Amino acid sequence: MTVLVALRDWDIDAWVARLRRELPGRNIVTLGEPFDRRAVHYAVSWKHPPGSLAGLPNLSAIFSLGAGVDHLMGDDRLPDVPIMRVVDPDLTSRMSEYIILHCLKILRQQMRYVRQQAERLWEDDRDQPAAADVRVGIMGMGVLGQDAARKLRMIGFDVAGWSRTARSASSVVIEGVEVFTGEEGLAPFLARTDILVCLLPLTDDTRGILDSKLLSGLARTGRTGGAHLINAGRGGLQVEADILACLDDGTLASATLDVFQTEPLPQASPLWTHPRVDITPHNAAMSAPATIARLVAEQIARAERGEPFQHAVDRSRGY
Ligand SMILES: NC(=O)c1ccc[n+]([C@@H]2O[C@H](COP(=O)([O-])OP(=O)(O)OC[C@H]3O[C@@H](n4cnc5c(N)ncnc54)[C@H](OP(=O)(O)O)[C@@H]3O)[C@@H](O)[C@H]2O)c1
Repeated sequence: MTVLVALRDWDIDAWVARLRRELPGRNIVTLGEPFDRRAVHYAVSWKHPPGSLAGLPNLSAIFSLGAGVDHLMGDDRLPDVPIMRVVDPDLTSRMSEYIILHCLKILRQQMRYVRQQAERLWEDDRDQPAAADVRVGIMGMGVLGQDAARKLRMIGFDVAGWSRTARSASSVVIEGVEVFTGEEGLAPFLARTDILVCLLPLTDDTRGILDSKLLSGLARTGRTGGAHLINAGRGGLQVEADILACLDDGTLASATLDVFQTEPLPQASPLWTHPRVDITPHNAAMSAPATIARLVAEQIARAERGEPFQHAVDRSRGY
């Protein structure tokens, strides 16, 4: 039984080595080498070249090596087999660390003190707000959004969420966290939000959602000196020209971006040098080969015991 590893952009050797360790006795092959296409039962993918998983007659499942599956959905020759995504406590914790770091950075005005230090300026803010004075709004109350919400609440932030359906609104039981849903919930959600955290998946419905219209709906009268954006979902969710315009006209006080419309972020992008933009290179929550390879092996073992796969993607929703 063969497992096909179909990756772009990542160090394929590290993944192959880990998968061989977790799946002893299986034939692990990569796209670049000759292999028997009929022997392939499973494929693991990160941004595989479109069409490269077609023509595998015995393929029974595809495993995304990340939490997102937008890299798969663009392939119009994707085989009609179950797709599983990564749900991993380690990855979830890493994302929450990132969100907490940047919410605290805004709350405690850290960028101001970095600038002051460069100028040897000793000036403090006698009106420093408490976490409870700051309203964080999380778009996407899935696995990652819920964990971040819970941890931000523990620190004391005033947290709300926004999701597509009442599904997460009813299943999310985080004391003190109201979950708004759908189109009608968006405006009131934005109007009570000082720091907007985006943890949405990239789908046909969410592409370009972070535009001027949406950002102009955020609160600007709170204790954070304006509205702030943190996007760690996907770059395709944001309209970068709009974010820059919103920073320049005061709609946004700052933007913290882990993901970009084009990655790596082009050298010529004005985001690099904007004084109120913080950039990280799409590493808010990395998929560690050791952990994820073990998850893939566990999923295969489940299937072969006759148990259903976990964390299957709903293709009609696109996430
Ligand atoms: N930057 C990084 O390093 C990094 C790392 C990992 C993941 N990510 C990104 O994070 C995303 C979220 O991961 P997750 O595991 O939390 O996903 P998830 O569990 O599938 O949760 C997705 C959430 O988004 C909501 N949603 C989807 N479409 C929506 C829409 N049109 N309107 C409003 N809400 C919508 C869902 O609503 P329902 O509850 O109603 O279904 C759900 O609450 C991934 O897709 C990936 O793009 C980034």
